[in-house]
Amino acid sequence: MSDRWAALEALPDTSLVDLFANDAERVGHFGAVLPGLQFDFSKTHLTGEALAALAALADTAGLDAARKRLFAGEIVNPTEGRAATHSAERGEGDAETVHVSRMLHDRMRALIDAIEMGALGEIRHILHIGIGGSALGPDLLVDALGRDAGRYEVAIVSNVDGSALADVFSRFDPHYTLVSVASKSFTTTETLINAHSTLDWLEQAAVEDPLGRFVALTANPEKAVEWGIDETRILPFAESVGGRYSLWSSIGFPAALALGWEAFDALLEGAAQMDRHFRLTDWRENVCFLGAAVDLYYTQKRRCETRAVFAYDERLRLLPSYLQQLEMESNGKSVTADGNPLNYPSAAITWGGIGTDAQHAVFQLLHQGTHLVPVEFLASKTPGSDLDPVHHRTLLINCFAQGAALMTGKANPGDPARAYPGDRPSTTILLDDVDPRSVGALIAFYEHRTFVNAVLLGINPFDQFGVELGKEIARSIESEGTDSFDPSTQALIVAAFD
Ligand code: F6P
Repeated sequence: MSDRWAALEALPDTSLVDLFANDAERVGHFGAVLPGLQFDFSKTHLTGEALAALAALADTAGLDAARKRLFAGEIVNPTEGRAATHSAERGEGDAETVHVSRMLHDRMRALIDAIEMGALGEIRHILHIGIGGSALGPDLLVDALGRDAGRYEVAIVSNVDGSALADVFSRFDPHYTLVSVASKSFTTTETLINAHSTLDWLEQAAVEDPLGRFVALTANPEKAVEWGIDETRILPFAESVGGRYSLWSSIGFPAALALGWEAFDALLEGAAQMDRHFRLTDWRENVCFLGAAVDLYYTQKRRCETRAVFAYDERLRLLPSYLQQLEMESNGKSVTADGNPLNYPSAAITWGGIGTDAQHAVFQLLHQGTHLVPVEFLASKTPGSDLDPVHHRTLLINCFAQGAALMTGKANPGDPARAYPGDRPSTTILLDDVDPRSVGALIAFYEHRTFVNAVLLGINPFDQFGVELGKEIARSIESEGTDSFDPSTQALIVAAFD
C-alpha cells in the first residue's frame, strides 16, 4: 500500500446498513440535485472521514491548481505538450480558445444550414465513418437523442470488418447519402479503408461528384485535402481536443445534423453547466469529485478491479461502451504523469449493460459472487416511449430494487445458496429526462470525474500510447512479412492467408 492511500486504508469498514443507521441525513450528505439530474452516492461506503482523506490527498496532489490549469488552457498533457480544451468547446475556458471554438462551431453550423437548404442535393441518409472517439460519441448522441428526430437515417460505421459497411450499403441509397469521415489524425487505417470503400460505392452507383458527398471532421485538414475532400467541406477542430473528449467539436457534426442545431446547442449548454459546477463547487459538494472519490475508495481501499454501469433506459444503452473508452483509455496507465511506475492500481475496468436485461444475465455475480463490484445505475424520470406507463414504472422499480437488494442483502440461515451477503455498493444517477441538456451534463460529469481520478492517481489522462504498439506491429506485418514474428503469430498468419 502506497503512502498516498494510507489515510483511506486506515478507516474502519463500516457496513452500508450501519452507515445509514448512524446518519439519518445520509442521502442528503452524499447526494446532490443539479438542474436536470440528481446523484445519490449514499449507498456507497463514502463517509465524511473518507472524503476528508481524499480532500487532503487532493490538496497534496494539487487538484485545485490542476483544475485551474485545465480551464485556463494550460498544458495538462505533458507527454504530448498539449492543453485539453474540450470545455472550451462548450464555452468554458480561456477567452482565446473559446473564441476559436465558437468560430469553428459557426462554420459547422453554416455547413449544416447549407446542407439543409439543399446545397448537397437531397440527403436522406448520413453515413458516419470513424473509430474510437471519432465514433463512440456521435453514436451515443444519435442513439440517445435522435430516436424521434426523424430528420435523417444515420449509420455509424467504425469496424474495418467489411460486413459493417456492407450492411449500410444494402440499406442506404447512394444517391441520397451524405458521408462524414471523422478522424482527428486523418491517418487511422480502419477509417481510411472504410472511406475508400464508400467512395467506390458512390462511384459504382454513378453518383455525380462522389467526393462532393464527403464531409471531413478532423484536426488535420491538410490530410483531408490530400485525401480529396474540398476545403469547404472540412470542419476542423483543435489539436488540443482529445479524441475521446471530442463529441462537442465538429466530431459531433452527424449528431448536430440529425438532431438539429438547437439540440446540439442545448447539449453544449448542459455540459457547460457541469463545467461551472466542477469549476466553482467545493469538493465536498462537487459531484465530479464525489464520483471520483467513490472510484478511488473502491480501487485503492477495497482493491475492486472493475466497476459496472447499468443504464436503466434504452436510450442510454451505448453509455457503457462510451465510458469504457473515456475511462480506460484515459486512466488505464501504469506510469505516473512524470514517468514513474504506479505502485497502486490505476483505473478500474469499466463494464456494464442495460437494465433490466442485465438482471437476468450478470447480476447473479453482483449479488452473490466473490468479487465486490461497485455498481452505477442510470435512469430517467421521464419515459422514452409513450406505451403503457407500466413499462417505465416497472423499469424504475427494478432499478431501485437492485440497489436496495445489493445493499441490504438477506440472511438465509441453513441455506447458504439462497443467502445474499449484501453490503454491496451502488450509485444512482437519476435524470429528469434523456434530453440534450441532461445528456450534455452527464457526459461532462464523467469527463471531469475521470480528470479528478487522474490527478489523484498522478496519471496523465490525455495521452494513449498504449494503443500504438499493436498498430505498429500490424503495419510491419503488412510491410515486412512474418519472419520476425514469434511462431504462434507466424502460424496464424500462414493459416489465415495461405
Ligand atoms: O487508437 C486509439 C485512438 O487514437 C483513439 O484515441 C481515437 O479516439 C481513435 O484512435 C481514432 O483516432 P482518429 O480520430 O485520429 O481517427
